[in-house]
Amino acid sequence: MSELPPAAFQNPRARHGFRARTCSIVGVGAYVPERVLSNADLERMVETTDEWITSRTGIKERRIAAPDEATSDLAAKAALRALESAGLKPDDIDLIIVATITPDMLFPSVACLVQAKIGAKRAAAFDVGAACSGFIYALEVGQQFIMSHTHDTVLVIGAEKLSSIIDWSDRNTCVLFGDGAGAVVLQNRPRAHGLLTACLGADGSKASLLCMPGGGSKIPATPDSVASRLHFLRMDGRETFKNAVIAMGQAAHEALGRCGLTVGQMALIIPHQANRRIIEAVGERLEAPPEKVFMNVDRFGNTSAASVAIALDEAVRGGRIQRGDLLLLLVFGAGLTWGAAVIEW
Ligand code: UT7
Repeated sequence: MSELPPAAFQNPRARHGFRARTCSIVGVGAYVPERVLSNADLERMVETTDEWITSRTGIKERRIAAPDEATSDLAAKAALRALESAGLKPDDIDLIIVATITPDMLFPSVACLVQAKIGAKRAAAFDVGAACSGFIYALEVGQQFIMSHTHDTVLVIGAEKLSSIIDWSDRNTCVLFGDGAGAVVLQNRPRAHGLLTACLGADGSKASLLCMPGGGSKIPATPDSVASRLHFLRMDGRETFKNAVIAMGQAAHEALGRCGLTVGQMALIIPHQANRRIIEAVGERLEAPPEKVFMNVDRFGNTSAASVAIALDEAVRGGRIQRGDLLLLLVFGAGLTWGAAVIEW
């Protein structure tokens, strides 16, 4: 065995007695609102058909939050379920990170509102804005806080009330999205089951492909901005589709390459649930057998930052993931942003 380098060249943390840490995913939970909006319901709202929506997207229904239910309410419910599955209490949490593009309000953050709602009095709290890719971004941020010894128990949530920014008269977008939340609890535990690596990427030059133009500092709300429908989500579907397939495929290869792993070693691949055709195209690029590619877009539509977290919860509770299994999570969204995470469950 090679000798340790002289103390002066060692990591200063090691010199001062910090032990290397491991970050485990110790709990998972999700919540979707009760109200189901079916394709038949949408046929009565805009000029569309169940046949068009199903064949172009794979979506049959999506969940829609109640008028008095905000993103923080969905997030808090998912968080409590994740804590329950971890056998922890809100007081055990010392950091809350929420990934969302539909905060209750511009500020304070959804994470602060969740902190109050679940009574996690000891927790620091902030939001991460990486649109549909937010869950993997937040997971990686949460892991870094644990590895750097500043926090021990981190709640990571992806939560969206997309129905609040959808133009319900635009058939190009209103059929695609749904509301919901998913959460995991990260903890420093000696036997780690967690993130092996996360590859994150972004291309801000394509921001206009998917955005909500109004409501920020560039176009604050005015009667004109409201009349021009600038406070709704806008998307160039075809271009977004192409970019999603390429970016998720490349991120998957990069993440697996970093770990020296192959698609064949993955027990399950959980891609962002935006469109069945995107999921199938990514699966084909990775040469993954269809049964290894998780899909629930038919029941929830695209729930943005919540999508992969809800899918992970379903896969765990449905017995599709066992302890020790290797998983590949893939995300893509506005920004543009994308990411891939390899997890040992
Ligand atoms: O989460 C972030 C990432 N988001 C995504 O990844 C979404 C990516 N994009 C997509 O999933 C797909 O592009 C869509 C589902 C949005 C659209 O599918 P497409 O096969 O790309 O259709 P298209 O945009 O090429 O539109 C085809 C036609 C158009 O009519 P014309 O111009 O060819 O006459 C649309 O007006 O379909 C029409 N159309 C509809 N027809 C019936 C668009 N929406 C609808 C609708 N019902 N709801």
